Amino acid sequence: MSDRYCVIGNPIAHSRSPAIHAAFALDTGQSITYERCLAPLDGFDATVRRLIAEGYRGANVTVPFKLDAARLATRLAPRAAAAGAVNTLLFADGEIVGDNTDGPGLVADIVRNAGVVLQGKRILLLGAGGAARGALLPLLDAGPREIVIANRTVATAEKLLHDFGAHAARLSVNGFADVAGSFDVVVNATSASLAADLPPVPAHVFTRATLALDMMYGNQPTVFMDFAASHGATVRDGLGMLVEQAAEAFALWRGVRPATAGLLASMRQPRP
Ligand code: ATR
Repeated sequence: MSDRYCVIGNPIAHSRSPAIHAAFALDTGQSITYERCLAPLDGFDATVRRLIAEGYRGANVTVPFKLDAARLATRLAPRAAAAGAVNTLLFADGEIVGDNTDGPGLVADIVRNAGVVLQGKRILLLGAGGAARGALLPLLDAGPREIVIANRTVATAEKLLHDFGAHAARLSVNGFADVAGSFDVVVNATSASLAADLPPVPAHVFTRATLALDMMYGNQPTVFMDFAASHGATVRDGLGMLVEQAAEAFALWRGVRPATAGLLASMRQPRP
């Protein structure tokens, strides 16, 4: 019988993860099944226990359960501990292992798919919530010269800075209006795009050499992508990050990393 996996969320009906993992299984010749799993808002733990009892080998976790998954895990990968959130669970030997592949997926998309080297670069990270927290350690590991975190509520960004104190030499915090200079890479990790809002970042952060990436994706470019493009930046949505975080999760579960370029290109085709 095939090994079973799923993605747990609420809502979950629109998740593209089953299609992505089906393509990975085909690409790598792995025999797995991967479904959507709707968990009640107050029933995440019970859902995970049921999946384990039914013999599932692992699960992805999405909104709003990433913090619950970090709490429930009996063991956390260091990057998941740093993120304080888990998007990938592995059920093995009576343990619930929690990992976070969102940040590595972001870095893989920037480096492999966009072809942008992060070593020695200046990065502006917009936001200081869960998404920004998850991105920070993998971004630091990619070797940039400096990461500036800008957030609407500066105190939240300062807390993030405190938690990543070991990297203080390369990290600083600003309100949006006070961000100085231009950046090689600007990542929108705020949830502003969900409400079609633009984080009030000054236009001078962008140049023609800037990659501006919004973690969100949809049928249309986000307001952030339009703003960045209008100031010369090359723009990118979060679809590549979605595919790459899935590839990292697949690799954790199966020990083989699937190819992503062909799948990403086909997912970028307009759907009928
Ligand atoms: P997520 O898990 O998606 O990161 P979160 O933890 O609730 O969600 O964090 C949301 C982030 O988006 C925060 O950094 C938030 O800024 P505040 O800390 O000031 O609340 C940011 N955010 C949300 N809406 C925004 C907007 N309209 N403009 C700028 N920043 C916004």
